[in-house]
Amino acid sequence: MERLQKILAQAGVASRRKCEELILAGKVQVNGETVTVLGTKADPSVDSITVEGRNIGAEKKVYLLLNKPKGVITSATDPQGRKIVTDYLKGVRERVYPVGRLDYDTEGLLLLTNDGDFAHLLTHPKHHVPKTYLATVKGVPHGTDLDKLKKGIMLDDGMTHPAEVEYHDVDPDNKEATIMITIHEGRNRQVRRMFEAIGHPVQRLKRIAFGDLYLGTMKRGLFRHLTKAEIEGLKQSAKTAEKRSKR
Ligand code: URA
Repeated sequence: MERLQKILAQAGVASRRKCEELILAGKVQVNGETVTVLGTKADPSVDSITVEGRNIGAEKKVYLLLNKPKGVITSATDPQGRKIVTDYLKGVRERVYPVGRLDYDTEGLLLLTNDGDFAHLLTHPKHHVPKTYLATVKGVPHGTDLDKLKKGIMLDDGMTHPAEVEYHDVDPDNKEATIMITIHEGRNRQVRRMFEAIGHPVQRLKRIAFGDLYLGTMKRGLFRHLTKAEIEGLKQSAKTAEKRSKR
C-alpha cells in the first residue's frame, strides 16, 4: 500500500505537489470512489485508480476463484470450440488466465488471474504449494496402499514427494471410497496416476483447497473475487512451502 499522491506521481501523472492538488480537487477516484483525503493509501496492483476518469497504470489485477465443473477445459481459448473455464466468468473484462490446470474431468477450485508474477509464484515447482483433492476411487484401498502414497510412489516420471492421505468416506458396499489427498507437486494427472499405481483408479476428482484457500460451499460453475487477505495468504504459502522444502 502506498500513499495515493506517491502512486500518481510515480505513474507520471504530475509532480507530487500537483497530484495532492488533484486529490483535494476531487479529481481522483479509487475503485470508483472519489478520494479527497491526502494520505489515503491504495495498492496500484489491485485497486483501480483514475484521474479525471482516466485509468492510470496497468490494467487492474484480478484474482478469481472458480468452482470448475467437470467437462470443461482449463484454458483461456479452445480452437475446437469446447467449453472453457473463462466461459464461466461473466462480467470479468480483464484477460485472466488459469493458475495451473485441472484435467477436463476434474472439478473444483481453480484460480484465475492476470497477475503473471502471482501465477508464477504459485505454480513454480520449487514452491511446492499444497493442493488438496477428494478422490473417489474404485474399491477401497487398504491402509498399506495409502501408506505407499504417503511415503512417495514410483510413477513413470519418477518418485512422488510425500503426500498427506486419509480416508474421507467409504461406501457401505465397499464398491468405492473417497480419499482426501494433499500433494505438493503439480505433475500432469498426478493424483489419477498415483491411485492407478495402487490399483484403485479415480472415478471422480475434486480439488478442495489450494494452499490455505478452501473451495467451501461455492456452487459448481460459480466464481468469486479473492479478498486481499486471501491473495496475501496464497503468496505467503508459496514462500513458506519453499522455505520448508529447503530445510
Ligand atoms: N491430479 C490429477 O490427476 N488431475 C487433476 O486435474 C489435478 C491433479
